[in-house]
Amino acid sequence: MLGPSGIGKSTLGELIGRYYDPDSGSILLDGRDLREYTVASLRRSIMLVDQTPYLFQVTARENISYARPEATQAEIEAAAKAAAIHDRILSLPDGYDTVLAERGQTLSAGERQRIAIARALLANPAVLILDEPTSSLDEANEAAIASTLAEALRGRTAILITHRAGLARIAHQIVELQ
Ligand SMILES: Nc1ncnc2c1ncn2[C@@H]1O[C@H](COP(=O)(O)OP(=O)(O)O)[C@@H](O)[C@H]1O
Ligand SMILES: [Mg+2]
Repeated sequence: MLGPSGIGKSTLGELIGRYYDPDSGSILLDGRDLREYTVASLRRSIMLVDQTPYLFQVTARENISYARPEATQAEIEAAAKAAAIHDRILSLPDGYDTVLAERGQTLSAGERQRIAIARALLANPAVLILDEPTSSLDEANEAAIASTLAEALRGRTAILITHRAGLARIAHQIVELQ
């Protein structure tokens, strides 16, 4: 989903996840109004990673395996690599055992978002919504992450929200909001 800042991309992502309902009109999922599904069932199948994701004050490993505590270290590292955050975690004082701060003390906004993307990839929801996953990166880093993300999203239903054409290139279908 592509479009300039302020056009309503994040709002649409939140509506699809039913974080709130439209004042008028309706959103259909497989032909049924979203309001016919329970919020609990939507939360199980649709996962939204927003631009300011929340980290828990637990280790990097536990932050990533939050939705799947039984995940193996190999699975956790594969998710971290797919989200391009593995090397950064290794550079922390205790690697995957480093306790992360809820806000910016340990990791930058973009790095926290990549932890949240790793968490979502490991949780493997039916539909994954990523809101501006590269907004805090320069173009060189964006290009690197775009190819990793393209690989990680293969075979999944993902809605990628971005205002950057470079990232939109990895999508199979582009919807532009005007
Ligand atoms: N369909 C809509 N009707 C009314 N207000 C909207 C609608 N879509 C977005 N907005 C409002 O427009 C503003 C920007 O929307 P946002 O989703 O944050 O844009 P983007 O993510 O594209 O930058 C927000 O204040 C939001 O509440
Ligand atoms: Mg937005």
